[in-house]
This record gives sequence, C-alpha cells and structure tokens, in this order.
Amino acid sequence: MKRSGGKMSFTVEKKHILHSSIFNQTLRDWHSLKCDITPKNLMYPVFIVEDDEAVQPISSLPGVSRFGINKLKEHLDSVVRNGLQSILLFGVIENIPKDEFASNADSLKNPVIRALPLLRKWYPDLTIACDVCLCPYTSHGHCGILNSDGSINNPSSIDRISDVALSYAKSGAHIVAPSDMMDGRIGAIKEKLIKHDLGNKVAVLSYTAKFASNFYGPFRDAAKSAPTFGDRKCYQLPPSSAGLPLRAAQRDVEEGADMLMVKPVMAYMDVLKSVKDAYPNHPMFVYQVSGEYAMIYWAAQKGVFDLKVALTEIFSSLRRAGADVIITYYTPLILEWLQLKH
Ligand code: PBG
Ligand code: ZN
Repeated sequence: MKRSGGKMSFTVEKKHILHSSIFNQTLRDWHSLKCDITPKNLMYPVFIVEDDEAVQPISSLPGVSRFGINKLKEHLDSVVRNGLQSILLFGVIENIPKDEFASNADSLKNPVIRALPLLRKWYPDLTIACDVCLCPYTSHGHCGILNSDGSINNPSSIDRISDVALSYAKSGAHIVAPSDMMDGRIGAIKEKLIKHDLGNKVAVLSYTAKFASNFYGPFRDAAKSAPTFGDRKCYQLPPSSAGLPLRAAQRDVEEGADMLMVKPVMAYMDVLKSVKDAYPNHPMFVYQVSGEYAMIYWAAQKGVFDLKVALTEIFSSLRRAGADVIITYYTPLILEWLQLKH
C-alpha cells in the first residue's frame, strides 16, 4: 500500500483482499453452499444379470460388479442403509437370445423386468430408474432397429423403445431413461405412458446430450452392448458440437422430458452449463461414465492424487457447473464417506 496512492487506492485495495473471506472452513463453505453433495445428489448405476446368484466383477471397471437379483439385494442393503436415494438399472443378458428387434429387452425373462417388483418391495423409499435402450438386446448391438442397409429406422426404433419403456414402467420403474438418442423417443414414450394411465406416475429422464464418446469403453464391456459393426456417430452427438446439445435439449423439453442429462461430463462441462442455463427449471443430471470412473480410479491407484480429495473436487465442480444429480459408480463410496462425516 503506497502512501502516494491516497484514499482511493486504499479502498480499492481493501476490496481486493480475498484471504479474509476464506481463512477457515466455515467461511470457505459459505462460498460453495450450492455445491454440496448429499445423498439426493447421487444416482447409482447398477448392472443386473439373468443368474439370480451371480456376482461378476467387471475387470474394466474395478470395484464394480454385475449382480443377480439375490446378490444385488445383499449389495444394496448396506448402500440403502447409508442413504442411497436412487438407482439406474441396466440389464445384461448372456443366455437368452439377442435379435434384431431386441425382443428380450422386455420379455418376462429380462432381468430388469424380473427385478423391478422385488426392488420396489424390498426398498419402498428407493427411487428406481431404468435405462431404456435396445443395444444390450439387439444381435447387432446398435441402439435402434436397423434398415437393411444398416442405417437406423427411426419410426420403428421409437415404437419399439417406447414399448420397452412402457413395460419397465408397468413393472414398477419410477423413471424411464432412454439412452438411445433416437429422434422423437421422448414424445413417443410420453404418449404411451399417458395412454396407459401412467402419465402422472412415471417420469422421463432424457439422455439429452449424449455424445458419441470414447469414454464408454468399459461400459460396453460391462453391458455386453458393443456394436458388432460401425459406430454410433449417426445417432449420438458429435463430441465437438456446441449447438446440437441445445437443439436436442429443446427437442426433448418440447416433447415433455421431466429431467435432462449430459453425458459424459468432465469433457463437457460447458455443455452442462449451457443446457442448465437454457433450462433452469428442469433437474439437470450428469453421467460420470465408465471411462471417467476408470480414469480417476487408476490415477488414484498410481498415486497421482488421493481418491477422496479428487472426487470431492470433481463432484463439487460438477455442482458448480449446474449439475443437480450426478450418476456415478462411486455412489456407494461417497455415501460411506458422508456417513463418516456425521
Ligand atoms: C447404451 C448406454 C451406454 C452408456 C449408458 N447407456 C453406452 C453407449 O451408448 O454405447 C454408457 C455408460 C457408461 O459408459 O458408463 N445406450
Ligand atoms: Zn444403446
């Protein structure tokens, strides 16, 4: 502080002291109250298989397993005790056949269809979302019904996808979450839910801005859903596009989506912010996908950072950028840490 600066510069300098705002934890917390992580801010993705007694660790997703329904109960009991609020169910099949119409996406043998009534009974306060897509059940591994030239047949795809969504809804899902990225699927699903008197009992969480990303690798392994040919670039969004996610959000909001999602998230924080800013009245979900999970896991393993400190930084940053709910495979771990805090 120079005397020659006089009163003016003294005032200006005082205004620029930040250290006085952050010298203890309570003061620091006051700057980030909207970034808190509570159980309500977390949704836990779960893979469920046909064999009721199975526990299948997934090597590309260390610490994550596929479960049969009985083993899933053993696993979820403690997570629910720790405050779990919501799960996102993914069915994975190995024995029942895959075909071009994804017939087993909603057959009576489908593990999600079988699990839903049990989960509703066992955990009456748990909110259950189902991922809706055809890729784990189609012979070609694509997310829709194909024309003979391999392109997407959009009308047949959304007809089939909305049937599958309706089946999950009828079996007890509170939320259906279409991840296929077909045009018009939100409207098609809403129409069928309303027609079957479920319009006010089931919410639609749209995978709105889902990018054709490199970060899904471990998931495709986990869900056995990799396409047998080609890629998903003709229906998932181009990673570098800034306008399409907003157009997709407008499309889905106009078709009646209850909640929106951006996926993956860490390389797409700008998209998260722009979609949340454009639609502040829709709860904003982000999916920290399998490749992001694995990347953070291995970095912590190799001593790059401490897992807990790094995850705290990442999750509060996602909240700061506009995320209301974070879908993450780390949910059980975070809930455990939150318990320890109290
Ligand atoms: C399938 C689906 C994918 C994910 C969720 N649903 C993969 C894909 O689109 O290929 C990715 C989840 C993750 O990577 O954790 N429609
Ligand atoms: Zn899919």
